[in-house]
Parts: sequence; C-alpha cells; structure tokens
Amino acid sequence: MNPKNVGVIENPDGYGKVGNPVCGDLMEIYIKVKDDIITDIKFKTFGCGSAIATSSMVTELAKGQHVDDAIKITRNDVADELDGLPPQKMHCSNLAADALHEAIKDYKKKKK
Ligand code: FES
Repeated sequence: MNPKNVGVIENPDGYGKVGNPVCGDLMEIYIKVKDDIITDIKFKTFGCGSAIATSSMVTELAKGQHVDDAIKITRNDVADELDGLPPQKMHCSNLAADALHEAIKDYKKKKK
C-alpha cells in the first residue's frame, strides 16, 4: 500500500534490471554502497501490486546490509515476510530478489 524506496538513484554503485518472463513486467534496482554496506537502495517497476509489495520488502531487508549478506536474500525470504503469497503470484516476488542480485553483481564487477 505504501511502498518504500521507490525511485531512481543517480550514479548508482550497482544497477540491476530483470524482466519477468511470465508477465513481461520489468524491475530495476539501484544501490549505493559504502565499504560493502548497502547504504541506499531504490527500485522502479512496471510490475503488479505483488511485485511492488515484494520490492519494497526486499529493499527494506537489504538496506544497511553487507552486500554478501544481501545477496543471500531469496525469493522465499521475501514471500515469508509477506506471510506467503498465493502461488500464482510467486513469480512476481522473484523479480525483486533477482534484480537485487543483479545490482550486487554489477557493483562487484565495477569494484574490480
Ligand atoms: Fe507481473 Fe506480478 S503480474 S510482476
């Protein structure tokens, strides 16, 4: 209902974008990282309500975490936090976790 961390970060340290093969929706995640800690995170999606709810959740979970911990946030953690999603909506929650993983990989790639 009140999604948090919606938006874009200019010059992010990591950026991830994934499309949902099931419905064609898109998810983008931007992260700012300092000393391997995610200090800020924002997302943008054209997804459905479940995708927005889970993205908000993922960004809240990831903020303040070490990148190596944040990358372990899985689709299931997200659905658990939301008290389970109907099975036909599980693919929506995958988007956020996958985009976060992409953003972290992007960060690690740039750091090298
Ligand atoms: Fe597309 Fe949920 S229906 S993200």
